[in-house]
Amino acid sequence: MTNVFQFQEWVNAHSQRAEWALDRLLDSAQTVPQRLHEAMRYAAQGGGKRIRPLLVYAAGQLSVGSETVNGDVLDAAAVAIECIHAYSLVHDDMPCMDDDDLRRGRPTVHKAFDEATALLVGDALQTRAFEILANAHGDAEVQLRMMKALAAASGSRGMAGGQAIDLESVGKKLDLVGLKQMHAMKTGALLTCAVELGGIAAHLQSSQMEQLQRYSKVLGLAFQIVDDVLDATADSQTLGKTAGKDAANDKPTYITLMGLDYAQKQAKELQETAIASLDGFGEQAQALKDLALLVVNRSK
Ligand code: IPE
Ligand code: IPE
Ligand code: MG
Ligand code: MG
Ligand code: MG
Repeated sequence: MTNVFQFQEWVNAHSQRAEWALDRLLDSAQTVPQRLHEAMRYAAQGGGKRIRPLLVYAAGQLSVGSETVNGDVLDAAAVAIECIHAYSLVHDDMPCMDDDDLRRGRPTVHKAFDEATALLVGDALQTRAFEILANAHGDAEVQLRMMKALAAASGSRGMAGGQAIDLESVGKKLDLVGLKQMHAMKTGALLTCAVELGGIAAHLQSSQMEQLQRYSKVLGLAFQIVDDVLDATADSQTLGKTAGKDAANDKPTYITLMGLDYAQKQAKELQETAIASLDGFGEQAQALKDLALLVVNRSK
């Protein structure tokens, strides 16, 4: 691990960079229709750990040789993936899904605004993500690769598909294979995509992209296991979202299937596997390694 203070500085600098990029690339709340744009900003800008943008920036640091990374394209990728993530949270919280009224320490979008607005916020954040990627001032081929990756990770074979499995599993007992698949899709796909977007921006070779994918797949699963653990062990104040929601909604999780101890051990093991899979990248991969520690050791 690097000096924790250095890593904290890196996190502060890059989350600030993501905040600025979000502010710049989202429509202003004065744009017509004002209420929808205000709600989109409410959903995307009200806190959050910004893990996906941080993964984009960390993977973007892996470029080697004479290849330079286009900062504008990297910012677009960081904002685009956060828009998709924010949309997924808005819809996830709606009464027809998890029915939650607290998110990032504030009322959820359908509570602060209304359900129809929440639906439209999700729709519009999703399309805005692709518009931002398309409009970035960079290499068209790079941007097209990014759009393909983001579309695949967000849709029915990725996040949205995983959410469908989540909803149809309420009250059911998934086996470990089924649970892993659901986690890999509903959460892992976007985390894997964040790393992929950074790797594309860094012009990595396909063998390096494959190596990165081994890291991010393992990290994606670890991320949702920790989310399940925190849901069962932390309080709503710390989480900024309703604790105990999985049990209340009768969701199959790592905890219900394997128990808390196993889930915690598994997250640690996955963290080590993720870090080990970056061997060979050298010092430039330090931020990605430290992010694996952050994902597993977080308290919210
Ligand atoms: C929560 O994601 C939803 C999951 C995919 C598990 P985060 O824990 O990254 O939420 P924010 O962005 O920090 O609010
Ligand atoms: C949601 O998983 C994953 C998404 C695609 C949003 P959860 O339903 O466990 O996320 P939280 O706990 O509400 O953030
Ligand atoms: Mg959910
Ligand atoms: Mg939820
Ligand atoms: Mg959860």
